[in-house]
Amino acid sequence: MRQILVTSALPYANGHIHLGHLVEYLQTDIWVRFQKLVGNRCVYVCADDTHGTAIMISATQQGITEEELIARMQKAHMADFAGFDIEFDNYGSTNSPENREYCAEIWSALRRAGLVVEKEVTQLYDPVAGTFLADRQVKGTCPKCGAANQYGDNCDKCGATYSPSELKNPVSAFTGATPENRSANHLFVNIERLRDFLTEWTQKGDHLQPEVANYLAGHFLHEPLRDWDVSRPAPYFGFEIPDSPGNYWYVWFDAPIGYMASTRQWCDRHGENFDDWWRSDKTEIHHFLGKDITYFHTLFWPAMLKTAKISLPKKVHIHGFLTVGGEKMSKSKGTFVRAATYLEHLNPAYLRYYYASKLTARVDDLDLNLDEFVAKINSDLVGKVVNLASRAAKFVKKTGLSAAYPDDGGLFRQAAADGRTIAEAYDECDFNRAMRQIMAVADRANQYVEHAQPWTLRADAAQAQRLQDVCTVALNLFRQIVVYLAPVLPRLADQTAELLNRPIRHWDESQEPLVGTPVSKFTHMMKRVEPKQVDAMIAASAEPEADNAAAATFDDSPEPLADEPLTGVCTFDEFAKVDLRVARIVAAEDVPEATKLLHLTLSLGGEKRLSVFAGIKGVYEPESLVGRLVICVANLAPRKMKFGTSEGMIAAAGAGGKEIYLLSPDEGAKPGQRVH
Ligand code: MSP
Ligand code: ZN
Repeated sequence: MRQILVTSALPYANGHIHLGHLVEYLQTDIWVRFQKLVGNRCVYVCADDTHGTAIMISATQQGITEEELIARMQKAHMADFAGFDIEFDNYGSTNSPENREYCAEIWSALRRAGLVVEKEVTQLYDPVAGTFLADRQVKGTCPKCGAANQYGDNCDKCGATYSPSELKNPVSAFTGATPENRSANHLFVNIERLRDFLTEWTQKGDHLQPEVANYLAGHFLHEPLRDWDVSRPAPYFGFEIPDSPGNYWYVWFDAPIGYMASTRQWCDRHGENFDDWWRSDKTEIHHFLGKDITYFHTLFWPAMLKTAKISLPKKVHIHGFLTVGGEKMSKSKGTFVRAATYLEHLNPAYLRYYYASKLTARVDDLDLNLDEFVAKINSDLVGKVVNLASRAAKFVKKTGLSAAYPDDGGLFRQAAADGRTIAEAYDECDFNRAMRQIMAVADRANQYVEHAQPWTLRADAAQAQRLQDVCTVALNLFRQIVVYLAPVLPRLADQTAELLNRPIRHWDESQEPLVGTPVSKFTHMMKRVEPKQVDAMIAASAEPEADNAAAATFDDSPEPLADEPLTGVCTFDEFAKVDLRVARIVAAEDVPEATKLLHLTLSLGGEKRLSVFAGIKGVYEPESLVGRLVICVANLAPRKMKFGTSEGMIAAAGAGGKEIYLLSPDEGAKPGQRVH
């Protein structure tokens, strides 16, 4: 039996949990539930990350204390997690006495090792908010590659790390003000002195995924490691450094220590010895986190632990980022979906299964494709899994399962043997592989049921035994699948336990069939997803542009310049000759002979129609266009083409090819209205 301590990154207390976060908390929860199910001793801790400038400014803006703000947020976070069946053994806060204690302990170890140095730092200061700005609270142009709109600590585009004062054209994320330079003394940790240890630890021993080890070697370890700035001058919401009054530990110093503090709370509640979990070979420590916070967990954190003689993680599991429909989550498009909003529209089990089916042991980004989401849930969970039970259970409600396990052609035995490779896939965090193997078991079970046709046996009294046997096989195969899915779908496991009157407490329950046990009345287990539920969730998540205006102007500026040069001057009269109109697409069809053309019929209101051939095939599906408004050039001289005459043009942005974006008017515009 392994003893395993598991953490997820601590969510910031300045925002709500969204579908992006859930990639991580669901990944971790599934792994933890799997470890518990196979009989390992596993403890899962997490906490809110509560300190720093953002919380301070946000509390001021809302007119409440920081403590009030973080208490509210913690409640909201915990409710969201519970709603998704994410079960922590302890959920703490970095603003806890336990955390302050461990911070002080690690701090004195760093001091004793002579790793702390003091240096004057010129930092960006937001004169409007009255605070120094953290790295991620400044945006500007990357000093190395010139990419616009980068955070103050590292560049998305080229991977460079730097300090925010090196950014070109910086602006404050809070107020948009141009920050000033101000100087103060800061405390630094000289982690270059731990280079040998860090090289060894990151490059050997399988603590990191190979791509993460390579990333560190290529981006950090190839040059001297920068001293790490771990203090911030007042005002700062956090812990004051005991031997440096007026200075506070930087939020990223105390955040990972929060893993220890949360474990300590769990230990105190369960009469456990903290040192057994953090200072002993008995326990494997596993951290789960996203790729954006890799270097904190793979360089600074190991350096702190090593110096303080605390256990190092056995493995840091890093996942990629969520995209929705292939794009970054967007508030205006409604794809930035909060956990709570999801729960108002959809069953949490759907997302648990969908993410599981997409997650691998690699750092790749993960895409939530909403059509695939609907299709996958309906075909896999409803069509293949739950259907097995619903087709068999009703016929054995009176008799229960057969007294001896019938001949099933070896299906149960084969699926029992598959349990080993499925378990390996779970343990390696390759949930995608595990789900594929489980669905293969389900496919075989469904073939069996379709072949045996219990619904036809029912009519014939002479077939009563055969009917009971067929259902006994179907329900046992179903139960086996549910045991394998239990880490992902704990509620389905509970429902199955009720149906078959036997709890599912251990993975090995998949190895022996149930016989002679009663079967309860089948109650519905999982509904199909209706696309309209998904649409409603997206609609509820879409934020009106106005609410978002401050963030949008900040986030989107300065945009990189388009490659296309501006054209020469056109006079007003020349422009006025172009009759631009709002039009509604009333029909759209493919032109099968053309590679790029769709044939559109535009309505300009009343009887007025235009027939237009547009080069947008492959970018827009014809069905998706019907009904929408576009902008068209209504007085373009008709042009004879191979497939007919085109009587106008619709306006679109982009370079062409796949990069075509149709223009549409704001809500309220009517077909036929002129664009001035
Ligand atoms: N507070 C820090 C972590 C401190 S750990 C000592 C933090 N918080 S966070 O709220 O921004 O993110 C929490 C976790 O969620 C991180 O691991 C982060 O990578 C992950 N994700 C946040 N947005 C995400 C996506 N869009 N997609 C996938 N994971 C994402 O970072
Ligand atoms: Zn760059």
